[in-house]
Amino acid sequence: LSTLPAERGWVTSALYNYQGFWHNARQLQGVLSCQKHFEAQDDDILLVTAPKSGTTWLKAILFTLVNRIRFPQTQDDHPLLSNNPHMLVPFLELKLYVEDESPDLSSLVSPRLFSTHLPYVSLPKSVQDSQCKLVYLCRNPKDTFISLWAFTNKLRLQEMGTNSLEQVFDKFCEGVSLYGPFWDHMLGYWHESLKNPEKIYFLTYEVMKEQPNLHLRKLADFLGCPFSSKEEEENVVESILKICSFDNLSNLKVNKEGKLPSGENNNAFFRKGKVGDWKNYLTTEMLERLEKICEEKLHGSGLKL
Ligand code: A3P
Repeated sequence: LSTLPAERGWVTSALYNYQGFWHNARQLQGVLSCQKHFEAQDDDILLVTAPKSGTTWLKAILFTLVNRIRFPQTQDDHPLLSNNPHMLVPFLELKLYVEDESPDLSSLVSPRLFSTHLPYVSLPKSVQDSQCKLVYLCRNPKDTFISLWAFTNKLRLQEMGTNSLEQVFDKFCEGVSLYGPFWDHMLGYWHESLKNPEKIYFLTYEVMKEQPNLHLRKLADFLGCPFSSKEEEENVVESILKICSFDNLSNLKVNKEGKLPSGENNNAFFRKGKVGDWKNYLTTEMLERLEKICEEKLHGSGLKL
């Protein structure tokens, strides 16, 4: 393991490079336990994201979509109205396998829905060996970076002060961020999704924003829970998108005032929810640097962001 010491300006704990990606100590413990003990089942669904790509949103969408018979999204007691999405779709290595090295998952109903930020190379072997399905969501690096910078500042204690944009930007460009390098994370799943489109649905935050109805229908087909009629499709798609919208989720009491058991305020996961907010922050030089990295990293991959 190569390590980076804690730096007050950016991360506040040391980082460890494991299988080519950066983790803090707590997270790494979860990664190792989950690699060792997680047994994927054929009908499991795994949402994979790099941090700040829209995980919270897709958790809400997948939960509502997959459970639409058990919990009709129009009901007043829908679980999403009183639970933060992270409580409904738990992270493997950040929650389940950190709290317990080998958690008992026997009470979970099928299809089980999990999420992870693990890079492809670090997935537990049973994920690759089973028929379980992966939905990979990524986001353009400019907005991801701004979202990440804002998020880390929200989580920092007041006495630590805030991270400057420049400091965090340099590290991000060098590939040093939790689960970074950002581009390698995305490319790992991109290449695998081309080889195995039945297994991995590759999606971006931007296309989901642009054509949510289309991608919700495609996700339903991909996950083996297609809409049974045109009518069901039209009504249900609209109501799922509505309950999962930024405006709805961010204004719920649970998300305004609640906290996750790990201590984060639920409202930290809702900031602006827009495409293109980077324009309010990045300088021309920063933009050029990011675009150059993208060009180099994505060259020949066919992936456009
Ligand atoms: P911004 O910081 O750009 O606003 P993650 O869930 O992976 O941590 O990502 C957080 C980002 O997703 C934040 O982006 C957040 O505002 C946005 N987000 C949260 N809920 C959303 C929703 N329902 N629709 C769209 N974006 C959402």
